[in-house]
Amino acid sequence: MIKIGVLGSGTGSNFAAIAEAINSKEIIGAEIAIVISDVKNAKILDRAAALGIPNKYIPADDFKTKLDGKQEQDYIDALQKANVDYIILAGFMRMIKGGILNAFPLKIINIHPALLPAFPGLHSWKQALDYGAKYAGCTVHFVDAGMDSGPIIAQSAVEVKDDDTAETLHARIQVQEHIIFPKVIQLIADGKIKIEGRKVKIG
Ligand code: GRF
Repeated sequence: MIKIGVLGSGTGSNFAAIAEAINSKEIIGAEIAIVISDVKNAKILDRAAALGIPNKYIPADDFKTKLDGKQEQDYIDALQKANVDYIILAGFMRMIKGGILNAFPLKIINIHPALLPAFPGLHSWKQALDYGAKYAGCTVHFVDAGMDSGPIIAQSAVEVKDDDTAETLHARIQVQEHIIFPKVIQLIADGKIKIEGRKVKIG
């Protein structure tokens, strides 16, 4: 049984998809040990509470866009106390840096709403739309010290329609996120993921 810690800043729809997949036994061999948010009243915390999953607000406000210093250590302490094997970033809006990466080497996984390496950073679905890309999508990847740059585990493509708005495109991408993220969790629980340099081999 692997124990997962989830970090999120927002609505937590990806967290909910994973939690529901665990509850319905679509995912076997994984449990969510704790949900932590850097946003006090984030919906992800309410969702965790409603599902009876331990959840915690840990402020990280010394820096705007990253997790660092004493507050990074607070996160590491809470995650280690909960005995987590893996950390899932589900809409966590801060860059993950050295301390937490060293504490959980190759154990931190993010979902990004674009087909990486295209459109890293913020509002990626809008970047794809504004650029005129014909396909957008989502990527589940290991987190390294760069911005959305770690080894890719899974991707799903979504066709961009002529009449798409940022909202309609993001909504279709999220449908795919809720499919591929739980699948990746199952692969991890089954020990089926091997990292060879930049490449992730499955099976
Ligand atoms: C998702 O679009 C994810 O790709 C990005 O942040 C968003 C989080 O959404 N990293 P939610 O909080 O899981 O609903």
